Amino acid sequence: MNTRSLSLATQAIHSGYRPMSHQGALNPPIYWSSTYAFESAAQGAARFAGEEPGMVYSRITNPTVQMLEERLAALEGGEAALAFGSGMGAICTLIWTLLRPGDELLVDLTLYGCTHALVSHLLPEFGIVTRSLDFTRPEELRQHLNARTRLVLFETPANPNMRLVDIAAVSALVHAHSPALVAVDSTYCTPCLQRPLELGADVVVHSLTKYLNGHGDVIAGALIGRSELMAQMRLVGLKELTGACMSPMDAFLVLRGLKTLPVRMERHCRTAQAIAEFLQASPQVAAVHYPGLPSHPQYELARRQMAAPGGMIAFDLHGGVEAGRRFIDALQLVTRAVSLGDAESLAQHPASMTHSPYSPEERQRHLIGDGLVRLSVGLEDEADLVADLRQALEAVAL
Ligand SMILES: Cc1ncc(COP(=O)(O)O)c(C=O)c1O
Repeated sequence: MNTRSLSLATQAIHSGYRPMSHQGALNPPIYWSSTYAFESAAQGAARFAGEEPGMVYSRITNPTVQMLEERLAALEGGEAALAFGSGMGAICTLIWTLLRPGDELLVDLTLYGCTHALVSHLLPEFGIVTRSLDFTRPEELRQHLNARTRLVLFETPANPNMRLVDIAAVSALVHAHSPALVAVDSTYCTPCLQRPLELGADVVVHSLTKYLNGHGDVIAGALIGRSELMAQMRLVGLKELTGACMSPMDAFLVLRGLKTLPVRMERHCRTAQAIAEFLQASPQVAAVHYPGLPSHPQYELARRQMAAPGGMIAFDLHGGVEAGRRFIDALQLVTRAVSLGDAESLAQHPASMTHSPYSPEERQRHLIGDGLVRLSVGLEDEADLVADLRQALEAVAL
């Protein structure tokens, strides 16, 4: 059965795996093998040359990982997907496969801290020209597009400040004025909320560590895009440049997590909307950054681009950094931890944790407030979460 015509909730359970091809096992087998036997030297040679399909070595592909890749491609509406041992592994593979000295990489102002460290601190040492621009201002982006621009990379919503980038507008602009590929880190959204390839992007980036796995027990990543491009990422980037391959056990866990993705996302979004409204009405809170609030400067774009505003909230407290730290320390139910998209609600302070690779000056330039608190709204009961947030806010006010 071709699952591509089925709805996303059905694909999340069935795409990429056919029990009857595996002795009827309801769940996919974990192919715990690093290498694969060939019938003959000629078959080995044909597989290495890409003339015959089949397994060679698990750094390049593995049957359980391949099942996950098929499911991810279906969910994002892409031709093919490639799974990695981490989100950073996916991003590194994308960059090292496409960019050479003298090439130009354009990124949005706000990125996850380690992506920022890679593109802004490390890539220039290898002769790659990186420009960090405000992608919400198309004229600024247009000025920097030229024949050397090879890759345009952004997150939407951006981690941690929840700025949005108009995927359709940026993709059209980039494709009209440069040979660059557009890559969207859609980790905050998942394909349930946003499908960048349908809006004109070339590659979708995911940290599978987050919502797609959803249970806080795996570090993993993925790229999704055209088959030819994914084959290049696999045979050059993954195989020869980064080696950031995924373990079959992790592929199994993400396949399992994906089955409940649409149900989980619905709940994350519903509770986050209620919490964002609660925070906005709290006297201790100076500003709430959540695309489901009409006060978000890109509320209209969120309604156009995202099926729902997601489970991530950022907010500033009156009293800045000190108030933010006191708030986080006062939490009793919400866990003090980085990462996001898990069943457990998680709170952290980006300036001292996930976004500490930015210098204080960089954080100011890249619109990451030092007092900002980031909250990943989990699957707990809404009233219990609100009660914990209320008591922590009251502790700040004391
Ligand atoms: C938006 C975003 N992209 C990429 C990454 C990197 O993913 P990983 O931690 O799986 O390497 C993260 C991690 O927090 C992230 O938030």
